[in-house]
Amino acid sequence: MDEYRELNRAFWDERAPAHAASRDYGLNEFVAEPEHLSHVVRFDLPLLGDVAGLRGVHLQCHIGTDTISLARLGARMTGLDFSPTSLEHARQLAAATRGDVDFVESDVYGAVDALGSEQFDLVYTGIGALIWLPDIRRWADVVAALLRPGGRLFVREGHPMLFTLADPRDDGLLVVEHPYFERDEGSVWDEGGTYVETEVVFSSNRTVEWNHGLGEVVSAVLAAGLEVTGLVEHDSVAWDAMPGMMQRPPGNADEWRLVDRPWRLPHTYTLQAVKRQA
Ligand SMILES: C[S@@+](CC[C@H](N)C(=O)[O-])C[C@H]1O[C@@H](n2cnc3c(N)ncnc32)[C@H](O)[C@@H]1O
Repeated sequence: MDEYRELNRAFWDERAPAHAASRDYGLNEFVAEPEHLSHVVRFDLPLLGDVAGLRGVHLQCHIGTDTISLARLGARMTGLDFSPTSLEHARQLAAATRGDVDFVESDVYGAVDALGSEQFDLVYTGIGALIWLPDIRRWADVVAALLRPGGRLFVREGHPMLFTLADPRDDGLLVVEHPYFERDEGSVWDEGGTYVETEVVFSSNRTVEWNHGLGEVVSAVLAAGLEVTGLVEHDSVAWDAMPGMMQRPPGNADEWRLVDRPWRLPHTYTLQAVKRQA
């Protein structure tokens, strides 16, 4: 296994139990309320539309909360992730909620083989997924191979501009510090902690990550033979991406937004594309 995969997988395997136990992922609510949806999927609904009856795959599904939410909306879902510990929690949640969802362990780049070359109506992914992949064109080729002609890609992702920013500063300035464009070597991070509230102290903290510029993502999707049907930039993000500088937007307890002039920064984007009919 490439070194980056080993590092990143250990990072996610270690964090999955803390995420499953956290209030932020709300697993208890999934068990208690059969209609409960993840806040990520709730946000997506207006752009996602009706998914009932679709055959869908969720790439980088983590502990399955979004995958199960899509299944609750009537899609027949498979979740795919390379972290066995994440998938253990996803399967437990599916069992506890009687969700009819499959989970498959695989690297994204091996998804076509792992899924038996099945073709899907919907490929869904995002919210901290693409930064773990070194080559966005290769990802787009996988997406295209997974879609049936006429099938749709739906991705809401952290905006590449957000990922360029230096850690929050006392003077409140937003400082562009990290790469915007994809770079072969990736960025090496060594950071404890995670994006949910937890007391757990982690030891697998070294990761390798890659930003992908918005134009690179769109160009990769086009080059893979998909037609872009929507690109919307949002002024909010699904996690507290700049602690101390963000707050929940009024009337929306699910999202985070810069306190000071949030219109300066695209926080996330939703990209939709359809595989051209042959
Ligand atoms: C931030 S989570 C995104 C999932 C989802 N948005 C969520 O919050 O539950 C990132 C996921 O990507 C997975 N991942 C990272 N690199 C991967 C790869 N190369 N192949 C498959 N999964 C990968 C990790 O195991 C993790 O579960």
